[in-house]
Parts: sequence; structure tokens; C-alpha cells
Amino acid sequence: MKIPFLDLVAQDREVGADVRAALADVLAGQAFVLGTHVERFEAAVAEYCGVPHAIGVASGTDALLLSLGGLGVGPGVSVLTTPFSFWATASTIVRLGARPIFADIDPATFNLHPEAVEDALAATHERVAGILPVHLFGRLAPMGALAALAERRGQWMVEDAAQAIGARADGTSAGAFGRAGCLSFYPTKNLGALGDGGMVLTRDATLAAHVRQERHQGHSSTPYVHASLGMCSRLDAVQAAALGAKLPRLDGWNARRRTIAARYTRLLEDAGLAGAPGAPLVLPVAAGEAHVFHQYVVRARDRDALQAHLAAAGIGAQVYYRMPLHLQPPLAAFGFRRGAFPEAERAAAEVLALPLYPELGERAVETVVEAVAAFYRRT
Ligand SMILES: Cc1ncc(COP(=O)(O)O)c(C=O)c1O
Repeated sequence: MKIPFLDLVAQDREVGADVRAALADVLAGQAFVLGTHVERFEAAVAEYCGVPHAIGVASGTDALLLSLGGLGVGPGVSVLTTPFSFWATASTIVRLGARPIFADIDPATFNLHPEAVEDALAATHERVAGILPVHLFGRLAPMGALAALAERRGQWMVEDAAQAIGARADGTSAGAFGRAGCLSFYPTKNLGALGDGGMVLTRDATLAAHVRQERHQGHSSTPYVHASLGMCSRLDAVQAAALGAKLPRLDGWNARRRTIAARYTRLLEDAGLAGAPGAPLVLPVAAGEAHVFHQYVVRARDRDALQAHLAAAGIGAQVYYRMPLHLQPPLAAFGFRRGAFPEAERAAAEVLALPLYPELGERAVETVVEAVAAFYRRT
């Protein structure tokens, strides 16, 4: 039984008719950039996430770039973030001419550790304008503790919620805690487009107006008179229509992800692979609605050999992320050293994401667990 890491064809079997109907509507109107489909989808996400403003942009990366830029991130400014994330979390800070400051992660959640953040803020001489937490793998970062730290110093928070749409705590959605929240609709995300797409969420009307202007060539109310340099970073109607067709299913899909994650956890523990002293795996911890399991990420003894064993058995498993951000070559000029963030570095050496998507069947989960068990019986 071959088990791909992700199966978007299975998702298309479920939602494809709705997506195709939405696309037919776009084709009938032949209006492809911004327009009513985008406005409708922006309104739907704003309501879903509980914020007044949602601005569709070309990617999650641009959502970060436009939010951070709108808050004045640039030369002479620093932004504190996690060293264990996707590259765009740090590259956008640096592209704006600012400096990333890192704090180590909580090994139990892979997210920023508030105590490490407090220590990093106390230790730096840089002017840290804001904190950029990432809800990694779909699990909310500790927003209450981070907000308290930020407030004390007059710093803003921008959430990298690229992997966490639909995660909630105490009625607040991922992306709605900070001054801005950044979503990605990259096709593999829990809510995935037919290409690239992203969105900025905010309660700040000034920031929203800035992002709207910047995404669209710095346009002003007078055609072809530009108020700022701007970018070409609009969400297009094809993506908005497809995403709008999928959005009503998102909560159901996220619930199925949680059920599958719980099944993995039960079977892996029952097989003696985790949960006992000396077991080869450490499993992710469920957190109710605060975790939408974008990925089911374990820490694994002999991680690379396990990944190769699973690949040979026809099972896709992926490493997110093999190199922490502070050690990435384009950041070499900042002089971060190996050993500076030991938990992020240990995570990079140990993590392995097992297949998880809403359509993954019970038998497939059992097959993955059996293959993992077979590997550790041999080693
Ligand atoms: C944590 C995180 N931040 C930012 C991004 C960037 O999003 P995009 O690929 O839509 O530019 C991604 C997704 O790839 C991500 O996973």
C-alpha cells in the first residue's frame, strides 16, 4: 500500500465539483485580478477569523513583507522571531533591511518559548520593534505570554499564521491575536489554493489601508497616480473563487486532521514506539482547537534512516526543517553561531512529518505505524 505524504487528488474528489463551479463563474465573467470574487473571499475570511480587515495578496511571503513593511520594519529595526520555521519568516525581515533576533523554541511545541523570548529581549542592545511568532505545524504559539511580554515593551506582534488557519484559543483565531496575522494559501496548506495566495488579517484600519495600497502598485484614488512605490501582489479571482469554495469545509477538515493525529498517537504508543522511557519517538501533543495539525511531526531516533525506510516502503515522510533559520547561508552576515539555539538545532536534527491529510484512511495510518515499528525492530 503506497501512502503519499499528501494527496490533493483525494481532496479534489471531495470538493472538486464546487471548485469547478466557482471557476466556471470566474471564466464567465473574465475578471481575473481583484474584483468581486476576491472581495467576497476577503469578507468570508474576515468573518471566519473574526477580524474587520482581510486583504488578499499573492502569497504568504508577501503577507509578511507587506505587514512588516507597514509597521515600519526596515533599516535600524529588529524583529524577534523563532529560529525554527519556514525560510520566509526570516527572509522577509531581512529583505526589508531589518535585523532578525532569534529566541529558542519550546521543545514540547516547536514554538517560541516565552522565557527564551524574555531572555533574548533582555540581552539584546538592538531596538526590537516587534515579535513575530509562528504557529508552527498548525499549533498556536503561546499568545497570552508573548502578548504580555510585547505589551510591557510597547512592541507589536505580527503572527505568521501560514500553517494555522482555523486554530483557535478562547474564541480567538490564529492571525487575530496580533496587530496583523499572515496566512498562506500555498496548495499544501490546510486551506490551499490552485497556486500561490496569501492574506493579511488585521484590526488596524491604517495598516489595512497601507496593505491594500501596497499590494496594488501603490495606487491612489486617481488612476495612474501612485501614492507609494507598491508591489504587484494581488490575490487573483481564480484563487479567491477556489478558496471560497473550500472554506466552508475547513473546520471539518481540521477536525479530521485532529482525529487522525489522535489515531497516530494512540497506535504509536500502543506499539511501544512512544510514551515510555527509551522509546524511539517523541510525539506531538494535542491541544484541542489550538492545534489544526497542518503536520503531524514526531521526533525520531535515527530520523534520516527512518525516512529512507518509509520511502522504500512507499510511504512519504518529510523533514520540516532540516536547517534552522539562524544557520541559513543568506543570514551569515549576522554572525549567528551553531549552538546559539540548541532546541531549534536539536529539532532540526530529529523531526519527521508523517503523512496527514483529512482523507487519510484508518488502514493507511495503521500501515505507517507498522512500517515505523518494523524499522525500530531492525535497529
Ligand atoms: C511558516 C510559514 N511562513 C511563511 C510561509 C510563506 O507562505 P507562501 O509559500 O504562501 O509564500 C509559509 C509557507 O510556505 C510557511 O509555512
